[in-house]
Amino acid sequence: MSTNKTIIITGGAGFIGSHVVRRFVNNYPQYKIINLDKLTYAGNLANLTDIEKAPNYIFEKGDICDVAFVDALFQKYTPDAVIHLAAESHVDRSIANPVEFVMTNVVGTVTLLNAARHAWKGAYDTHRFYHVSTDEVYGALGAEGMFTETTAYDPHSPYSASKASSDHFVRAYHDTYGMDCVISNCSNNYGSHHFPEKLIPLSINNIKNMKPIPVYGKGENVRDWLWVEDHARAIDDIFHKAKTGKTYNIGGHNEWTNIDLIHLLCKIMDKKLNRAEGTSAALITFVTDRAGHDLRYAIDATTLKEELGWLPSLQFEEGLEKTVDWYLENEEWLNNVTSGAYQKYYENQYN
Ligand code: NAD
Ligand code: TYD
Repeated sequence: MSTNKTIIITGGAGFIGSHVVRRFVNNYPQYKIINLDKLTYAGNLANLTDIEKAPNYIFEKGDICDVAFVDALFQKYTPDAVIHLAAESHVDRSIANPVEFVMTNVVGTVTLLNAARHAWKGAYDTHRFYHVSTDEVYGALGAEGMFTETTAYDPHSPYSASKASSDHFVRAYHDTYGMDCVISNCSNNYGSHHFPEKLIPLSINNIKNMKPIPVYGKGENVRDWLWVEDHARAIDDIFHKAKTGKTYNIGGHNEWTNIDLIHLLCKIMDKKLNRAEGTSAALITFVTDRAGHDLRYAIDATTLKEELGWLPSLQFEEGLEKTVDWYLENEEWLNNVTSGAYQKYYENQYN
């Protein structure tokens, strides 16, 4: 790959995508970064106001399932690489509307792969397709063990099934056509600009507004939480250094039951909001469990550490406090994304 790259980053207006776009725009002024995003409910250009005027940044609104649009974009920019994050990403929404997940996550990914297959023909070794995926493709763990890169796929939710399918297509394009494809499977991310339908930002928003904190089942499910900027750094490392065809697991070595995490969050927020200790925890409300709820995720990120020297940079307590600070300081962002359609989603999901 040349040093002056043109890179299409899909889903760059979303939570993780915006951190990846910011990192690449700021750290690689010699690159041209094209952010391709449909701006669904989860995509928000307000996530990128700090870099939107950068000379090496271009936003293109469009749908990754739209073959003509995607082909035209490849012709317009002749990209050297794609970093693909665009997806429907919320398990609960996938339970309510699985077809949308098949369309974006499977058909959208194959549409991008196919555009790349045609546009890069004869030069696959100098063009890279990087697919960003999730640890949820591996299914659920019991009390012991961790997911490695060779763990068999066993997805349970429509979301994880659609991501697993997209991973298979990426590997198929590598194996069949010889395209330079890499994949990473990451654990749960947290940090700024996270849409408040996922556990941490939803709970922060509810605690702030003294609303019940809905905990599914008994709150015993375990997730391995990673600071979103550490994920963006891992993506940077993998994009630049991974051998073709490789898969890397990315994780925080940071397992929490949901209920312990919520108690920690309540403690932090009582302090930040000058509330008496225990005020926020009194909002915890156990609700009906999620259907097919995976018990435990945990990532073994040894390969990434040993091959590329990547390690998480932040302790969870520190990262969670920084996250709470961001949400309290960015009230307008939160108010904007929780108005309108969010209210309707919330009522359907929790009432
Ligand atoms: P997100 O829901 O916050 O953002 C998704 C983005 O994709 C949005 O900006 C949305 O507008 C865009 N998008 C959706 N459909 C599109 C389409 N058809 N065409 C173009 N753009 C479209 O998601 P996220 O949490 O930032 O996740 C990004 C990627 O990382 C996803 O592929 C997800 O599977 C993966 N991932 C997420 C996590 C996590 O904890 N959030 C963990 C591991 C992997
Ligand atoms: P979530 O943030 O949706 O991520 P994922 O399902 O991809 O891991 O959920 C994280 C955990 O929190 C998961 O075990 C489900 C649980 N959860 C709740 O208990 N209450 C909620 O309101 C939400 C959204 C999630």
